[in-house]
Amino acid sequence: MKKIDINILGLGNLGTAFFEGLQKNKNLNLHLYEENEKIRNDYAELHDVVTSPHIDTLDSGVLILCIKPQNINNFFESFSKNINKDVLICSPVAGLEIETINKYVKNRVIRIMPNLLISKNNGFIPFVKNYDDDHLGFIEIALSSLGLTREFTEQLFPLVTALSGSGPAWYYELSRQLTNSATQLGMNEDEAEELVKELIKALPNLINTEDSFAELVNKVKSPKGTTEAGLDSLNDASFDTIIFNAIQQATNRSIEISAELNNE
Ligand SMILES: NC(=O)c1ccc[n+]([C@@H]2O[C@H](COP(=O)([O-])OP(=O)(O)OC[C@H]3O[C@@H](n4cnc5c(N)ncnc54)[C@H](OP(=O)(O)O)[C@@H]3O)[C@@H](O)[C@H]2O)c1
Repeated sequence: MKKIDINILGLGNLGTAFFEGLQKNKNLNLHLYEENEKIRNDYAELHDVVTSPHIDTLDSGVLILCIKPQNINNFFESFSKNINKDVLICSPVAGLEIETINKYVKNRVIRIMPNLLISKNNGFIPFVKNYDDDHLGFIEIALSSLGLTREFTEQLFPLVTALSGSGPAWYYELSRQLTNSATQLGMNEDEAEELVKELIKALPNLINTEDSFAELVNKVKSPKGTTEAGLDSLNDASFDTIIFNAIQQATNRSIEISAELNNE
């Protein structure tokens, strides 16, 4: 089978997660691009791979855009002439709609919203695309090796971005606040962090069931017990509204970014 050329543009958080998740996939040839010289030098030292500052000419394969939304306009204005129409564009860029990419290049586009777990081949990868088949086998051969893939309508992408793309941050922030509470109540920070980290590590084994989240909560609490006392306090402090507002704000920001990118 012919290997697929995968071009990763930008080796920051997400580009590195793609690199780590894909580097052992024998069906792919990886090509790496990063403007930042320090990151290029770090890659050369750590991974013994060649990186280039800019893409030259891309005739085929896949281009994964791991750059920030604010760099997209510049990138396409400078480099769209170097991208052949056969190149499949894969975009994880928050808020960047397929229609906006097609204003710059008329290529096939797959829009995805992964999270950083793809680096451990354990991600969840919502996608939407503007073509019918699995062009180049990219979904089956590359994306599926990074985690579970699932098609969504593009209309749901702002919410998907808020829940799944930003998702780890909600749990990290909750964990940070649990740790802070424990230190305020007398535990030292190292002990508190270890306790919370061990708790997070245990969760996958506990939620891998058919139970809903409400049922899982019920399994932990008992009448008039410690968990119920804490949950009552969360309810009194409108925990549901706090979380709803956060997800709504993140969703709205994604919609705003789409409008900004579309008007550039
Ligand atoms: N991080 C996540 O968990 C996550 C999840 C889902 C989606 N995303 C999306 O993924 C994209 C990247 O996010 P990130 O967190 O990885 O950003 P990041 O850490 O800032 O990485 C982007 C890298 O790309 C470099 N770069 C910018 N323009 C370039 C160009 N034209 N050619 C080569 N390299 C270029 C940047 O260099 P400079 O810093 O020098 O500009 C930077 O090192 C964003 O659009 C974001 O919406 C991220």
